[in-house]
Amino acid sequence: MREIKVGLLGLGTVGSGVLKMIQENGDKITNVTGQRITVKTALVRNPAKHEAVADSVTLTTDFAEILNDEEIDIAVELLGGLHPAEEYITALLKQHKHVVTANKDLIAAVGPRLAQLAHDNHCDLMYEASVAGGIPILRTIANSFSADQILEVKGIVNGTTNYILTQMAKQGLDYDTALKQAQELGFAEADPTNDVKGKDAAFKMVILSHFAFGTEVAVDELEIVGIDQLTKEDVAQASKLGYVVKLVGLAKVVNHGLFVEVAPTLVNQSHPLASINNENNAVMVTGQAVGDTLFYGPGAGGLPTANSVLSDITSTTKNLVLKTTGNSFNNFAQELGPADPKA
Ligand code: NDP
Ligand code: HSE
Repeated sequence: MREIKVGLLGLGTVGSGVLKMIQENGDKITNVTGQRITVKTALVRNPAKHEAVADSVTLTTDFAEILNDEEIDIAVELLGGLHPAEEYITALLKQHKHVVTANKDLIAAVGPRLAQLAHDNHCDLMYEASVAGGIPILRTIANSFSADQILEVKGIVNGTTNYILTQMAKQGLDYDTALKQAQELGFAEADPTNDVKGKDAAFKMVILSHFAFGTEVAVDELEIVGIDQLTKEDVAQASKLGYVVKLVGLAKVVNHGLFVEVAPTLVNQSHPLASINNENNAVMVTGQAVGDTLFYGPGAGGLPTANSVLSDITSTTKNLVLKTTGNSFNNFAQELGPADPKA
């Protein structure tokens, strides 16, 4: 049995969930992969905050300690934001390290370039956790819709805004109080602006659109409206009329083109999306053959998101072992190819 060593970039809400799962579920992971996975080093800004894990993991503030460590096979980027995440992932792939990330901002912006770089360096780049937290939606679209024509993908893909809207509707909380709670629970981004303005959901719709339709959409091309102008009175008024307000992302084939938007939406109380509450997400995928399908689960939070990160780590581990034995198989990350396949 090989020991697969992981370098964690970030030990916040998701990073600490990943560390906990690897430490507590080691035997299950070994049964599934045939390998023992351990976290060797974790990159943080402030090591003093993480003393509780300092006896089991090497804490560092120096990225080079992970980049140049030949024992580390897989790097897991959980810093958030575009920079320095982009520079770090680029360097890691050039150093032939496999990369797992939950960073939708980055994948929506430069995913195709990074996927090409991963391909050129014979590495995996995986990012299941970047869309809808704990719901395994990218794998599902890549694997289970491989022969169907997808007509539409729509859903609730931001946990923070769904939490806020739920608290406004069910507890009568005002917007600011509900947002503060979502931040305290670890659902919101470090800076919640992208959550409440709909941009985080838009990043996810860009990634979903690529998986569902093979189309590269730029975030700037989307119609995006957030929930930051909504009041609890708006939400209460919608309820009186038989609706629930949800921030809905939609990607739909229209006249042979693709229409993508994110906007607060009046959802009829009888529609399945109306009953998706708190930080939960739901993605409805409509295929020509299969019709409507609905995927539901926690869209944010440390352990649910860590579970998606771990599914990528275990897939990468299996690939790694197959590659070293001379075999390989396609994984979903390779679906996100360059803009021009001949480039
Ligand atoms: P946090 O803000 O909780 O944690 C970020 C971690 O990264 C911290 O440990 C921080 O160090 C470290 N860090 C940040 N910048 C640097 C830097 N420049 N150098 C070294 N260390 C740094 O973020 P989350 O865990 O919430 O999110 C991580 C990623 O996962 C993001 O891309 C996010 O969008 C994504 N994601 C988050 C979900 C959630 O529910 N929270 C769900 C799905 C995806 P320190 O602790 O010392 O401050
Ligand atoms: N801030 C994000 C959300 C985290 O609330 O959905 C999950 O991507």
